Amino acid sequence: MRTIAFVTQKGGSGKSTLAACLAVAAHEKGERVFLIDTDPLMSLSKWAKARKSKDILVEWVPAGKLQSALAMLAKKGITLAIIDTGAGESPAAAAAIKAADLCIIPARPNAFDLWASELTRKACSAARKEFAFLLNQCPPAQQSARIEDGAKALEAMGGLLTPLVSTRVDYQEAARHGMGATELNPHGVAAEEMRDLWASVKRRMARGKSAGVKKAA
Ligand SMILES: Nc1ncnc2c1ncn2[C@@H]1O[C@H](COP(=O)(O)OP(=O)(O)OP(=O)(O)O)[C@@H](O)[C@H]1O
Ligand SMILES: [Mg+2]
Repeated sequence: MRTIAFVTQKGGSGKSTLAACLAVAAHEKGERVFLIDTDPLMSLSKWAKARKSKDILVEWVPAGKLQSALAMLAKKGITLAIIDTGAGESPAAAAAIKAADLCIIPARPNAFDLWASELTRKACSAARKEFAFLLNQCPPAQQSARIEDGAKALEAMGGLLTPLVSTRVDYQEAARHGMGATELNPHGVAAEEMRDLWASVKRRMARGKSAGVKKAA
C-alpha cells in the first residue's frame, strides 16, 4: 500500500478538493483507495455522505491512531491511502507527513500560498519525506507571469507535479455531489487534468521508491 498526504499550512489551497478527485481518478485506474480525513472540519467525511457509491470509503482518524489505521488498511488489501489534513500546524498534519510515502503540497499561484508552501516543505524535509508541490486554481488558458513565477518558485523548492490545475467549476460541482471531476464530466478538461495528475503522482512515487527518501535541506 502506498500513502499520499495532502498537506499545507495554508487554508483553502485545495487539499480536500484534490484529495477527493485524485482518489476517484486512481480508483478508476484500478487502485483500491481509502481516504483518511484528519481535518476537524471533516470536508471529506461530508463528501462521502454526499457520494452515492460506497466504492471509496472515508474515515475520520485522529492523529494518534493514524499509524494503526494505515496498518489495518494495508492488511485489508487497500493499495492507496490518501490522507487529507486541515490548515495550520497540527499534530494530525505532522502525523500525516510522517506516515506518507509522498506529501503533496498544493498552492495557489499567489505570494501567501507560496510562502506557506515553504514552511510545509521544511516540515517534510525535516521528516525526510518525499514531497512535491502542486499548483492549483490557476486561471484557465492564461499563462501569466504570475503563474510562471509560481511554477518556477515551486520547481526550485523541490519539484512541481504536472499538470498545473486550473480553476474550474467542475471541481466545485464534483465536490458538492460527492464525486470526482472524472465522474462529473468525464470528457471535460478538469477530468483530463485529474487523470494526468494521477499518472504524474504514480510516476513520482515510482521514482521516490527507486531513489529512496529525498533528503532535501
Ligand atoms: N481547481 C479548483 N477550481 C475551482 N475551485 C477550486 C479548485 N480547487 C479548490 N477549489 C475551491 O476552493 C475552495 C477551497 O478548496 P478546499 O476546501 O479543497 O481547500 P483546502 O486546502 O482543503 O482548505 P482547508 O485548509 O480549509 O481544508 C473550495 O471552495 C473549493 O471548491
Ligand atoms: Mg480541506
